[in-house]
Amino acid sequence: MKRKSQLGISLILLLILGGMIAAIVSAGQSPEPLTGNWVVRTQNNDGTLRTTYLNLKQDGARITGTIRVTQFFYHISESTGGPDGFTITGSMMDGKSERKVQYEGKLVGDELHVSTRRRPQDNPTQMVAVRAPAGEGALPARNPLPALHKVPDNGLARTPPMGWNSWNKFASRVDDPTVRSIADAMASNGMKEAGYLYINIDDTWEAGRDARGNIQTNKKFPDMKALADYVHSKGLKLGIYSSPGPNTCAGYEGTYGHEEQDARTYAAWGIDYLKYDWCGARTLYTDEEMPAVYQIMGDALLKTKRPIVYSLCQYGRLDVWKWGADVGGNLWRTTGDIRDAWDSMTRIGFSQNDLAPWAKPGHWNDPDMLEIGNGAMTNDEYKTHMSLWAILAAPLLAGNDLRSMSPEILAILTNHEVIAVNQDKLGKQGQRVWQSGDQEIWTRTLSGGALAVAVFNRANAPATISIKLADLKLDGKWKARDLWSHQTVPWSDTEYSTSVPAHGVVMLNLSR
Ligand code: GLA
Repeated sequence: MKRKSQLGISLILLLILGGMIAAIVSAGQSPEPLTGNWVVRTQNNDGTLRTTYLNLKQDGARITGTIRVTQFFYHISESTGGPDGFTITGSMMDGKSERKVQYEGKLVGDELHVSTRRRPQDNPTQMVAVRAPAGEGALPARNPLPALHKVPDNGLARTPPMGWNSWNKFASRVDDPTVRSIADAMASNGMKEAGYLYINIDDTWEAGRDARGNIQTNKKFPDMKALADYVHSKGLKLGIYSSPGPNTCAGYEGTYGHEEQDARTYAAWGIDYLKYDWCGARTLYTDEEMPAVYQIMGDALLKTKRPIVYSLCQYGRLDVWKWGADVGGNLWRTTGDIRDAWDSMTRIGFSQNDLAPWAKPGHWNDPDMLEIGNGAMTNDEYKTHMSLWAILAAPLLAGNDLRSMSPEILAILTNHEVIAVNQDKLGKQGQRVWQSGDQEIWTRTLSGGALAVAVFNRANAPATISIKLADLKLDGKWKARDLWSHQTVPWSDTEYSTSVPAHGVVMLNLSR
């Protein structure tokens, strides 16, 4: 009995001693001052938060860890300095290219004062980071991807979608009153009659999720269902935007892990169109996994039984035109973002030639939304934009403020003869048939044996360009109509000469 209790006491003493040794050892390893999960929280105008997480591990003169700026997740690849002043560089692979960020900072009491620049020439943005619980802001685990199968065609978008999208003009300033007044304008200014139908809200409508995981709208959009009802009451349809990743491009809540639930929410709200933007998904998946990721939402939309146009936005990576239709896509972006600039618009528009075979009714190449009327191009340049998008069978999504455009811009957007080319029911995307320096002729085969011909002059000076019937691979008698002057033009059996303004276009419809 006595021996047993002596044994018990020595065991307890041993345990206490062990504990003390462990405590001394761990005190010796107490984390260095920069180690920890640091967060910068700034408030957007819509009440949502923008977060940057600096998850740092200081090891003497070396800092490792991760930097998460909304949807971007970087690994710290270089560091110098310490608590009194440090610089860290984060890098991530985005498809095949490397992105980098750099932060400078120092510890001030319990806070980390940091600064970063978007571009080297910019002034630094100063921020204050505070300690956040370990794990906050960490990336979620990767969900397993489904096996690929062919998503049945939803039967929508037999001609390229027409409508409006908020991003090019309004970016994060889009809100419910703006969308309503844009719908009012479209319903009353002749655009609706010309075929424009969708009013699409782009990024920045989202908030977080409720306790049951339902996606919430932020305070710019108090009632999405009521907004959809309003847009529908005008005879128009409502579109929305999201990302397959945890975050969207602007850093808002994405659909990750909630795809079916969000599709059901969109359907319940009365949404008719979804633009689904890769952005935040790049932190979890590779480009090669895009088809499976996009298929999840393709299936989810079909399952709602509501007709919802499915627009893929992943900037043309992995030759999306080859698989976009199989994952249920009605259209797929073929390039990076357009800007309201002649360079940007022509670089995108004139590079679409080889993609023509992939466009067909229900499934379109999308060289991005229109910039017509946003102010940084001339009206001749905007006519080139409209004509080229018509030849390309591209979606016509106006991106300007429909409430305040000039009559000239409205006339460009509603030119019914050019729109008829865009909406031709054969759905054959046009191609370049002739080029000489800055001059190009593109044609598009139309139903009923007609041919749309666009003569582009990309030079800075006007030019006289002649169209030879042989270049168009045509012979015999044709009637020609000018789709911008709305007149029949004299057409000979061999050649037609026309003067084309600088950066301008002459567009014709040839019929027998
Ligand atoms: C990406 C898309 C744009 C727009 C923004 C929104 O850049 O390509 O069209 O949707 O995201 O954040």
